[in-house]
Amino acid sequence: MTWKLIEGADNVLENDMKEFEVDGVGILIARNATGYFAYPALCPHMEAQLAFGTCDGKLITCMQHLWQWDMETGDPVGMAEEPIKTYRTKHENGQVYIWFEEELKYAYMEE
Ligand code: FES
Repeated sequence: MTWKLIEGADNVLENDMKEFEVDGVGILIARNATGYFAYPALCPHMEAQLAFGTCDGKLITCMQHLWQWDMETGDPVGMAEEPIKTYRTKHENGQVYIWFEEELKYAYMEE
């Protein structure tokens, strides 16, 4: 359990998102007027890269099948059948950190 620095995440523009790699795992960082938010990089539906989707400051949308989530809570919206996992973030001294409470890997990496 630790805070992990996401190098360059402070450059993500408001109402935009970008994928980063932390310890070999993809993490999506999104930003709105409230702050920074972090999620696994892959969609919980069929593992499309969420970075190819959109972020409008309220919703994250996966471009593959248009599932959507509230970007601040990860709650599913519209057609989405599952929430998206969210990680706690902090913005300190111009850097963005995310908090990992569990081992940093995805289920698909165990195969
Ligand atoms: S893979 Fe993202 S909605 Fe289907």
